[in-house]
Amino acid sequence: MNLSVVGLQWGDEGKGKVVDYLAGQFDAVARFNGGSNAGHTVVLGTKKHTFHLVPSGALKGKELLIGPGVALDPVVLKDELSLLPPEARGRMLVDGRATLVSPLEKKFDALLEKIRGASALGTTMRGIGPAYAMRAFRLTPVVSDLLAEFDFSPMEQFYVRVGVDPSGLQEWAADSRKLVEGMVGDVGARVVEKTEGGGAVLFEASQGTLLDLLHGSYPYVTSSHTVSSYIPASLGIPPRMAGEPLGVMKCYTTRVGSGPFPTELDGTLAETIRKVGNEYGATTGRPRRVGWLDLVALKYAVRLNGVKKVAISKLDVLSEVKEFMVCVAYERLGSQTTDFQKSLSHLGEVRPVLAAPLSLYGSKFGDAIPPQAKKLVDYVEAELGVEVSILSHGEERASTIVL
Ligand code: IMP
Ligand code: MG
Repeated sequence: MNLSVVGLQWGDEGKGKVVDYLAGQFDAVARFNGGSNAGHTVVLGTKKHTFHLVPSGALKGKELLIGPGVALDPVVLKDELSLLPPEARGRMLVDGRATLVSPLEKKFDALLEKIRGASALGTTMRGIGPAYAMRAFRLTPVVSDLLAEFDFSPMEQFYVRVGVDPSGLQEWAADSRKLVEGMVGDVGARVVEKTEGGGAVLFEASQGTLLDLLHGSYPYVTSSHTVSSYIPASLGIPPRMAGEPLGVMKCYTTRVGSGPFPTELDGTLAETIRKVGNEYGATTGRPRRVGWLDLVALKYAVRLNGVKKVAISKLDVLSEVKEFMVCVAYERLGSQTTDFQKSLSHLGEVRPVLAAPLSLYGSKFGDAIPPQAKKLVDYVEAELGVEVSILSHGEERASTIVL
């Protein structure tokens, strides 16, 4: 049975670890959205692996699929493959329809951020938004174009007109061609073939639901779709093959980049959680903004994704912090709401209504689930109407409890 792993917050929920943990039960792991803006961390013993493009199943010897909906930066892919055993290359299949990211889109990303000025998004500068935009303009090559004759002049002309120096594009294309040769194929067809043959594919989302281009906190979002319903469309598979979504949530909230964040904390408490939780961007190294668990936002994410099962991560972090608060409603102009969608247009103005239903302070994680964590499981299940199926209390595979 296929399964997808999606993020229920603003990314960095711990999807990488969950995917690595579950990958053993699947034949292949497929990326369906985003690009090297993602930073998926997998810890094996004392070694930390950060994947930006390669699916997090890489360390489990699985087939690695990069779908048509991914923005593929061949330079990043090359670097990432060089850190993996050489045989990993043989397990990679890159869809010919995937959108390419060239160095020009990275320059364009920086230019757009400059134009936005005080409203800059704080993008990862990986050129992902511009690459998808160039796709919509129908100016950019897709992966299979690298293997044929492609007329780069309209794209070059575009960049000249917006003031981005287009030199080096042909060399980049030649290098990229060398890299992808032998890896290009039809990922959608591969997923269908696997599924019909009784195999199972794990779909790995990048970023989180609240960063979805349509459904997130626009304009402070990423440029692709992060929700489970995007999986079949982006991979080119029938919806019934998309599998059940497993939602991943952290027991608090983080956000990198700009934009409204109702439960955001500041001062020493934020600093403590950031330090204990090592909340620094895996792609950019930026300190992540931290805040309390936000049930209003989570309910919206659960509904959007149709999630029935969730994994809760980072319980170990809150076992070292005395306080634990949960946002149960938003307040604005004297009235309260639990409707995230209605709050989207003024998310920066809402005040969180906080509750302190339990504490995780001092929880000791062994083989059994500590009583405080059990309380959190019951609370989350009741509030979100989901089943908690996995708890993660540390970076390593062993720090996982399956319920
Ligand atoms: P972009 O995706 O680089 O265009 O950045 C747009 C917004 O999404 C910024 O706030 C980024 O910090 C955020 N973002 C992009 N990728 C990730 C991710 O993988 N984790 C968390 N935030 C991300
Ligand atoms: Mg990340």
